[in-house]
Amino acid sequence: MLRAGDLIVLNGQLGAGKTTLVRGIGEGLDVRGPVTSPTFVIARVHPALGGGPALVHVDAYRLSSPAEVDDLDLDADLERSVTVVEWGGGLVEGLAASWLDVTIVMPAPGQGTGQVATGGPGSGSGPGSAGERGTGDESDPGDEPRIVLLTGRGERWAVAAESVRAGLLGVPVSE
Ligand SMILES: Nc1ncnc2c1ncn2[C@@H]1O[C@H](COP(=O)(O)OP(=O)(O)OP(=O)(O)O)[C@@H](O)[C@H]1O
Ligand SMILES: [Mg+2]
Repeated sequence: MLRAGDLIVLNGQLGAGKTTLVRGIGEGLDVRGPVTSPTFVIARVHPALGGGPALVHVDAYRLSSPAEVDDLDLDADLERSVTVVEWGGGLVEGLAASWLDVTIVMPAPGQGTGQVATGGPGSGSGPGSAGERGTGDESDPGDEPRIVLLTGRGERWAVAAESVRAGLLGVPVSE
């Protein structure tokens, strides 16, 4: 469903599966990979292999203010790309009139999916929080099922977010 000009804001704690989702979006869009979790690169353009839009993958973990986002000049590519921003909550919403907010929630170990942790956007650790991103086992959450919260913001996603949700649930999507 994604098209040029779309902005997706991806939230979720360390190791929630944000980059993994971006990798799948890249495959769906048929762009040049690999989509990785870079240590030093904040924004990377993945050119389209076919006729679709490019994918701009941003990891805003190290950014702490919308002014720093401005410095990336993301708006230069926004109109002709699909832009996905990890840790983008509270930082990049000013870039577009519409965006899809995707928050991946991991249940606490042993809790299963019956209980949703309260860690949503804006709570807990996040962009600019103290400490370095772990590289060891502490960020390996294993194969626990995730809960994915989709919230459409603005005109573009008012209806489209419902279509994504229906698609994920296997319900036929009517445009
Ligand atoms: N839906 C999923 N179900 C089970 N495991 C998953 C899922 N998505 C990702 N994983 C696994 O979780 C681990 C972390 O995934 P990933 O690097 O995508 O997380 P992230 O949210 O981008 O982390 P970071 O906060 O460091 O950017 C990987 O080992 C990945 O294979
Ligand atoms: Mg990541």
